[in-house]
Amino acid sequence: MSLTLAARTRQMNSSAIREILKLTERPGVLSLAGGLPSPDSFPLEALAQASEQVWRTQGAQAMQYANSEGLMPLRAWFAERLSRPEWPVRPEQVLVTTGSQQGLDLLGKVLLDPGRPVWVEQPTYLGALQAFAVYEPVFKPWAHDAQGPDPAALLDAEAASASAAYLVPSYQNPSGLCLSAGRRRAIAEALNSSGVTLVEDNPYGELWYDEAPPLPIAAQAPHHTVYLGSLSKVLAPGLRIGCIVTPPDDAPGALALRARLLQAKQATDLHTPGFNQRLVLQLLANGFDLDAHVAQVRLRYKAQRDAMAAALTRHMPPGCAWQVPQGGMFFWMEGPQGFDAAASLHAAVEGCVAYVPGSAFYVGTATGANVDEQALPRRQMRLSFVTLSVAQIEEAVRRLADHIRHAVAHAC
Ligand SMILES: Cc1ncc(COP(=O)(O)O)c(C=O)c1O
Repeated sequence: MSLTLAARTRQMNSSAIREILKLTERPGVLSLAGGLPSPDSFPLEALAQASEQVWRTQGAQAMQYANSEGLMPLRAWFAERLSRPEWPVRPEQVLVTTGSQQGLDLLGKVLLDPGRPVWVEQPTYLGALQAFAVYEPVFKPWAHDAQGPDPAALLDAEAASASAAYLVPSYQNPSGLCLSAGRRRAIAEALNSSGVTLVEDNPYGELWYDEAPPLPIAAQAPHHTVYLGSLSKVLAPGLRIGCIVTPPDDAPGALALRARLLQAKQATDLHTPGFNQRLVLQLLANGFDLDAHVAQVRLRYKAQRDAMAAALTRHMPPGCAWQVPQGGMFFWMEGPQGFDAAASLHAAVEGCVAYVPGSAFYVGTATGANVDEQALPRRQMRLSFVTLSVAQIEEAVRRLADHIRHAVAHAC
């Protein structure tokens, strides 16, 4: 008799795409698929020095169990860094998490009910769909226009029954879209009048290349927004340090939410590794200037973004469409009529270039939900510009353009 798994595991989807993408580790493949920050941006020397100091001066504490909320100085640092005049964040609102990915899982645990709707953009961050799917919500595509998700959708009767809505407002993964100040304000107003809870996930907000993004929605609807932050894209993802910012004390239900999140965190991993938390605090105590560091990362990524924009213009065949992202890590591109990004991925990898087909970021592919796969957009793909060098980007885009031409010619 085979091992019996919980029924909810049927919601977990191991995708065919992921299997193909494993092949991208083969030598010679130039991958535009990964969502990995550039390793050249990690401040390894400063981290090595801080790490040595943590071992020598706080080794035993760093190796001991720690509290589940996170170390108070780190919570206070997050609170100060995120605070704006319009949005004062207190340390008590901050829960340190093991990456913002854990934040998504904990919020799934405490906010989502089986069978109740959760509103998601389409496309949206695959990892959020995966984290939420286990809690068996009904995923509802959030109606949108060219400006992003439609605020009016939060006001209808169906939205009123939703457990939550999920949004990446700045340089979304995968679309690269950044919501305007006006759209954010309108969404905040709709949250304030509908009472829907928004999960605002903002790992890319500091990676802007032209001008800083508008205020977070949490600043405008703090009572109805749970905000997720992360050090992964600005410092290093291997640290696994992120945070959840819960609504202020006077928001109805905020204290209960905080208490439940803490219990969920305890059940999941007791606490985020104390060594990593202390490492970040030591780094900062040594005078590491995170703002200056992020400014350097921005310069590096902006050059890569510009190289990708130029290479796409130079090489892509007619019928391809994309917008130059104003921040983040991804171009979102639509191939010409007849191109099928998922069906031709294997051939692309054979031709030594990889991308993520856009269908991976839609509810049907990312979760076990019963969705008509044929109805999903087939021509879209996500192209990361931060992992490859400028020279490699040029070559990868040239290969991709050849692949698209070939795939379209053979599709007919
Ligand atoms: C939109 C979004 N949210 C959350 C995460 C998870 O980030 P981390 O757990 O490293 O903080 C990612 C990672 O790529 C992401 O793109």
